[in-house]
Amino acid sequence: MKFFIDTANLKEIDQARSLGMLDGVTTNPSLMSKESLFNQKEIQKHYISICERLKNDENVSAEVISSNYIDMIQEGEKLALLHPRIVVKIPMTKNGIQAIQYLSNKRIKTNCTLVFSAGQAFLAAKAGAYYVSPFVGRLDDVSYNGLKLIREIKNVYENYFFKTKILAASIRHSLHVIECAKIGIHAITSPIKVINSLFNHPLTDIGLEQFIKDYQSKINN
Ligand code: G3P
Repeated sequence: MKFFIDTANLKEIDQARSLGMLDGVTTNPSLMSKESLFNQKEIQKHYISICERLKNDENVSAEVISSNYIDMIQEGEKLALLHPRIVVKIPMTKNGIQAIQYLSNKRIKTNCTLVFSAGQAFLAAKAGAYYVSPFVGRLDDVSYNGLKLIREIKNVYENYFFKTKILAASIRHSLHVIECAKIGIHAITSPIKVINSLFNHPLTDIGLEQFIKDYQSKINN
C-alpha cells in the first residue's frame, strides 16, 4: 500500500522522504491556505517545488477551486501543464464528474475528492478518475464507519474491474492505516504524525531498554 502525505508543507514532505515513507503527496485548498501563498504565481511555484521533490512514479494531487464545468476544466488543464507529476483533484459534484470525464479523455490524471458514498465512488470510476478519495475520518466524525465505505468501494470496483485506484483520505490514526492495508487498497494519504505513530509501540521501547540494560550490566565495551 502506498503512503501519500496529506500536506502542502515542504518540510513535512522532506520529513516523510527521510523516513523512506513517501510515495506521493495530496493537497487541498485548506492545506494550501496554511502555506503563506498570496497569489497564483506563488501557488504555481509551490506546486512545482512539491513536484521537484517527487520521483517519476510519484505524483501530487492539486485541487481546482472552481465549481462550474468550464472553469474547472480550464483550471485543471492549467494545473496539469505545470508539471507532469500533477494529478488534478476535482470535487465530487455533477460538474466535477463531467470535468473528470473531459480531463480523462485528454489523458490528464484526476483524483475525485470529497467522496462519502459507494455511489459517488461508482460515478467517479465510470467517469474515468485515476484516483478516488473517500474520506474515512470525516465519516467517522458523523458516526458512520468510514472503513466500511472503503470495503464497499473495493467490492464495487472489483465487481466491474474498474481501474480507478482507491486513495483513502482523511486518515487520522494508525488503526485507519492498518485496516486499509488489510482491505488491500492502493494507497492512503495522511498527515506526517500518523506515519510517525506507526513506528511506535510501548513494548518496543520497554524491550529495547531492557536489552541495553542487560548487555551493559555484563559486557564491558
Ligand atoms: O485531503 C483531504 C483529507 O485527507 C482531509 O483530511 O483530516 O481534514 O478530514 P481531514
